[in-house]
Amino acid sequence: MKIDVEYLEFMWPMRHFLITCGVMGERPDIVAVSFCMPVSKEPPLVACAIATGAHSAGLIETHREFVVNVPQEELKRQVYYCGSHSGSQVDKFEGAGLTPKPARRVKAPIVDECVAHMECLVRQVVAAGDKKLFIAEVGEAYAEESLAKGDRKFSFALGEFPAHIYGSRFGKK
Ligand SMILES: Cc1cc2nc3c(=O)[nH]c(=O)nc-3n(C[C@H](O)[C@H](O)[C@H](O)COP(=O)(O)O)c2cc1C
Repeated sequence: MKIDVEYLEFMWPMRHFLITCGVMGERPDIVAVSFCMPVSKEPPLVACAIATGAHSAGLIETHREFVVNVPQEELKRQVYYCGSHSGSQVDKFEGAGLTPKPARRVKAPIVDECVAHMECLVRQVVAAGDKKLFIAEVGEAYAEESLAKGDRKFSFALGEFPAHIYGSRFGKK
């Protein structure tokens, strides 16, 4: 017998990312995003879905650029902070204690504490339910050399933490 389920429960595990947007020096934003995936190898495209009313979604639509930063498990607290506060109210770099550094190509800063960065140029914005889907070309991708060569330790990306966040939104534990 098959029973009805909340579809998202069967899409875990998801990676989670810190997306930076806006302009370095002009209170850029950092948003925690799990709805982010590769969609094309040639050209290299990613798609990220961000809530229509989110401050970050507005900045990305305005500037048409963002950076996908890859956090490790040690940044769990900061990921939670960036995923539970709005950049319309707070400076998340300051509040989370994260360091902005200039990106190579885009105006948004990278999160220096993250181990990998994908600088993205928006090619399409699609209205998708309660989200805006940003389809963007990866213009630059770089990572910590030591991790790229050795143990990547990205286990946090596969952990329970993001599932709990979404679970609580659907009224579950
Ligand atoms: C681990 C995690 C993953 C999240 N993934 C998404 C996501 O994929 N899309 C989304 O719209 N919000 C997601 N959120 C919620 C946003 O990060 C949150 O609403 C944030 O406060 C929006 O900030 P902003 O108003 O500065 O854009 C996630 C939160 C967490 C903690």
